[in-house]
Amino acid sequence: MSAHAPQPPQKPGEDPIRPHVFDGIAEYDKRLPNWWLMTLYASIAFAVVYWMATQHFGGKSDGEKVTAHIQGIRAAKLAAAGSYDDAALWEMSRNASIVAAGAATYASTCVACHGANLEGGIGLNLADAQWKHGGAPTTIMRAVAEGIAGTGMPPWGPMLGPKKTAEVTAFVLSKHPAP
Ligand code: HEC
Repeated sequence: MSAHAPQPPQKPGEDPIRPHVFDGIAEYDKRLPNWWLMTLYASIAFAVVYWMATQHFGGKSDGEKVTAHIQGIRAAKLAAAGSYDDAALWEMSRNASIVAAGAATYASTCVACHGANLEGGIGLNLADAQWKHGGAPTTIMRAVAEGIAGTGMPPWGPMLGPKKTAEVTAFVLSKHPAP
C-alpha cells in the first residue's frame, strides 16, 4: 500500500482522480449530487428553525410539558377528593392549572367588587396581609362559600359549587406566600 503510487491516467471528460492510491485502488473526486447537498442544507436549516421555535420562542420544553401534565393530574385528584383542608388549598394555590381556573372564576364573579388586582373597592383588598374575617385557607373558602352575613359579600357556594369555590380560593391564595 502506498499513498504515492503512480496515478492511473485520467481520460478526458472524466471526473478528476484523487491524489492517493491504496492497494492499487484510486477514487474519483466526484461532486456530491445536488439532491444530496439540498437534503443536507435543508436539514441544517430545519434544525436551526426547529431549535429556535422549541427552545427560544414560547414552545414549551419537555420538562415544562411534564410538569404541567403532572399538575393537571394533581388538580384532578384534589378536585376528586372533594374535601379541602388548609394544606390542600395551599397546594392548589401553587398548581398552575387550578390557579388559572380560579382566575377565570374570579374575573367573571369577583372582579366587580374586589378589583382586577384584588385591590378591593366595594369589597375588601384580598391581596394584602390583612384579613378581616380570618386568613386561613379554609376560613377564606368559607367566607366565599357562605358569604359574610350583614355585608355586601354574598354567598357564592350555591352558585359556584365546591370545586369552583375551592379554585377561586386557591387563586386568591396564589397571591400570598405559602407557609
Ligand atoms: C357584590 C360585591 C362582591 C362580590 C361580587 C364579591 N365580594 Fe367578596 N366581599 C364583598 C364585601 C363588601 C366584603 C367585605 C365584607 C365586610 O365588610 O366584612 C367582601 C369580603 C370578602 C372576603 C373576606 C376578606 C377578609 O378580609 O376577610 C373574601 C375572602 C372575599 N370577599 C372573596 C370574594 C370572592 C372570592 C368573590 C368571588 C367569588 C367575591 N368575594 C365576590 C363584596 C363582594
